[in-house]
Amino acid sequence: MPSVLVTGASQGLGLEFVRQYASAGWQVIACCRNPASSPALQALAQGHETIRIEPLEITAGGQVNDLARRLAGSTIDLLLNNAGTMGTLPFAANLERQHFGSIDYELWDEVFRTNTLGTVRVTEALLDLVAASVQKRVICLSSTTGSIAESRRQALAYTTSKAALNKAMTLIADHVRPRGVTVTLVCPGYVKTRMNVGGATIEVAESVAAIRALVDRLTLADSGRFLRYNGEAIAW
Ligand SMILES: NC(=O)c1ccc[n+]([C@@H]2O[C@H](COP(=O)([O-])OP(=O)(O)OC[C@H]3O[C@@H](n4cnc5c(N)ncnc54)[C@H](OP(=O)(O)O)[C@@H]3O)[C@@H](O)[C@H]2O)c1
Repeated sequence: MPSVLVTGASQGLGLEFVRQYASAGWQVIACCRNPASSPALQALAQGHETIRIEPLEITAGGQVNDLARRLAGSTIDLLLNNAGTMGTLPFAANLERQHFGSIDYELWDEVFRTNTLGTVRVTEALLDLVAASVQKRVICLSSTTGSIAESRRQALAYTTSKAALNKAMTLIADHVRPRGVTVTLVCPGYVKTRMNVGGATIEVAESVAAIRALVDRLTLADSGRFLRYNGEAIAW
């Protein structure tokens, strides 16, 4: 039975990844920073004995290392780095804090610590378990807004955190390629989650199903690439 570890599994895309992979017969390690506050995840786990819930705040080095210790001896076929933040919610009401002229540097720091450093931290701590698996895949949920070529979205904290994640993961992809590990950056599209309450066009289940199909097709040749949920390449 293949195994997947999902970060940010309490809601949105992360919760749906847990639902779909568990339904497909995978062993799922569903990580979230406060399991007690996600009744939806608790209910899912009650219906599937293959779901194991683990507490994980991805910015907390101690928690990340503790998780790696608890999982020692097991393998992770797919590490799904999904946890991420756009900054203080509601996003639209707080957007000015990400605009030049009214920047909130503490917010920027928090977004960077989560989206960039937290994602790299989790990947570094769990890489050996991925490398010991059969499928050896790391997927990072990035965003087209982090593309210099394709986006001019004025949200300094979020967009730069994803651009930096993209750069970091291309370097990590090179580093781990000799071990047969594929590291790919994927944008889920403009999806109807808490992050995008208005204007989003894609249903959560549709995006997750498309990403799962994409992940199935990935080979080592796709390592270090930046792809849309439908498999199209995104310009850096
Ligand atoms: N929705 C879109 O249109 C869209 C587009 C491009 C990229 N993405 C990316 O897709 C991923 C999932 O986003 P989403 O749309 O599902 O957003 P969401 O509904 O806001 O869910 C975000 C998830 O990340 C978790 N999280 C945030 N900070 C965390 C931290 N420090 N440690 C652990 N978990 C943390 C949240 O946990 P809590 O419940 O505890 O807050 C939640 O489970 C993100 O990386 C996002 O940047 C989304």
